[in-house]
Amino acid sequence: MNILITGTSRGLGFQTALELSSREGCQVFALSRQKEGLDKLLKTALQKHKGAKIVPLHFDLEHGNFQDLFLEIKKHTSHLDILINNAASIVVKPFMDLTEDDFSKVYKLNVIRTASLIRLLVPLMERTNGPRAHIVNISSMGGFQGSMKFAGLSAYSSSKAALAGLTESLAEELKEKHISANCLCLGAIQTEMLNEAFPGYQAPLTPEEMALYVADFALNGSKYFNGKILPVSLSTP
Ligand SMILES: NC(=O)c1ccc[n+]([C@@H]2O[C@H](COP(=O)([O-])OP(=O)(O)OC[C@H]3O[C@@H](n4cnc5c(N)ncnc54)[C@H](OP(=O)(O)O)[C@@H]3O)[C@@H](O)[C@H]2O)c1
Repeated sequence: MNILITGTSRGLGFQTALELSSREGCQVFALSRQKEGLDKLLKTALQKHKGAKIVPLHFDLEHGNFQDLFLEIKKHTSHLDILINNAASIVVKPFMDLTEDDFSKVYKLNVIRTASLIRLLVPLMERTNGPRAHIVNISSMGGFQGSMKFAGLSAYSSSKAALAGLTESLAEELKEKHISANCLCLGAIQTEMLNEAFPGYQAPLTPEEMALYVADFALNGSKYFNGKILPVSLSTP
């Protein structure tokens, strides 16, 4: 099982890569900008499970050249089973202070480049039979329609809502290729992103706890769900 996860140098992506690399028969392609984080992931994975298979992909999703990334992946495999779009950026500012550049930065990574990555990798995921491949888009409760919203997160939350909407379209367009696409709208997790955005806020879940759920969902969810936007939250109504 070949699994590509974006944003694996820290936080939820780090823990999800760690978890999946310890599962039998899984090879994880771990994509991030920071080499130190990827080195730490590799070291920790091998400590946890001697046979852990991780291919680090040192890549900037916002500015990197996708053809180079494709060639790098193709050196290791000609097919992917799971893509977890986890990397994201956040801007915390009152709506009236946000600039077009703020919106562009957040939308570029969270929506536009994520969509480009999906287009790049669909040819490696499509199949005619057997278990369905799975695209898991990591959104937020802030991007879930009808959820409680937090002041200062309008650019981030609306980008996450766009990612959720994109998931529904992907499910329709990719169903003949035997690829399921689902979106997890996560509640708060105690990661660096949360600490930076809301210093002092106490989340109900650790990255390790949420990673267990994401890993199991990524492995099994394509059998039961397609085009679903699922709230995964203890705290947010
Ligand atoms: N934490 C929460 O409370 C919470 C709640 C709901 C949803 N989420 C979602 O869960 C996901 C993970 O969140 P997190 O809290 O773990 O975030 P995080 O601690 O900020 O980690 C984000 C990861 O994305 C990578 N990344 C950022 N920009 C990138 C780029 N241009 N190219 C490649 N990688 C990039 C970062 O690595 P590099 O810097 O090495 O590139 C990092 O590994 C995000 O989609 C977030 O929106 C989080």
